[in-house]
Amino acid sequence: MSITIKTASEIEKMRVAGRLTAEVLEMIAEHVAPGITTDELDRICHDYIVNVQQAIPAPLDYRGFPKSICTSVNQQVCHGIPSDKRLKKGDIVNIDITVIKDGYHGDSSKMFGVDTISQPAQRLIKVTREALFLGIAQVKPGCTLGDIGHAIQTYAEANYYSVVEEYCGHGIGKDFHEDPQVLHYGKPNTGVALEAGMILTIEPMLNIGKRHVKLLGDKWTVVTKDRSLSAQWEHTILVTPAGYEILTLRQEEL
Ligand code: MF3
Ligand code: CO
Ligand code: CO
Repeated sequence: MSITIKTASEIEKMRVAGRLTAEVLEMIAEHVAPGITTDELDRICHDYIVNVQQAIPAPLDYRGFPKSICTSVNQQVCHGIPSDKRLKKGDIVNIDITVIKDGYHGDSSKMFGVDTISQPAQRLIKVTREALFLGIAQVKPGCTLGDIGHAIQTYAEANYYSVVEEYCGHGIGKDFHEDPQVLHYGKPNTGVALEAGMILTIEPMLNIGKRHVKLLGDKWTVVTKDRSLSAQWEHTILVTPAGYEILTLRQEEL
């Protein structure tokens, strides 16, 4: 596969898919509270995407994934499968939404604190979001993927966190995961140079402890090997002639 440059009409469809993705994350916020199960969050998102947005939840049946969203709690890094386990006060949870509308994908995730969360958890969530936005700020024609990874890694490590290396951002469009792979670590001026019309996700995962991860027996859920807390934020980004446009930006981020 190679990196596609999206046409004007494809970009318009990606804007719609990105907006719907953002709206799912806005909709679900009020439901994230002690006592709810991640299965219930999955059901609410599924029904909203299918019935209200008349769109498709991309994770459902994607390579055998059994649910419509990913919910990754505490030491879970990514790809957590919704279950009948209840969220409790102090948990942190990443909700990762991917919507297909008119054949095009939007992909975004954010962290939620369940009621009151610890200071270390708050700091991890804040720094991870800042790392995402420092990565995004690099994006413009001529910038390299290494520039993005370097910006994220440098900031994470300056804050004494580690960056997960086994999972990365990606090109996105007609397909959920397209070329290129967008690593969240790297060296300036290395790797593919960006061009206007490329669309990619940036989705750094930062751990309080070591960077190493482990895949659970369900073959999806990724956890930190040392069981330390992990956080992730994700946006879908269009490279524009002037820089970037965040296709999955939420109202709260304006
Ligand atoms: N949304 C994830 C990403 O950001 C991918 C989830 S794949 C799934 O790339 F099958 F687990 F849904
Ligand atoms: Co993604
Ligand atoms: Co995602």
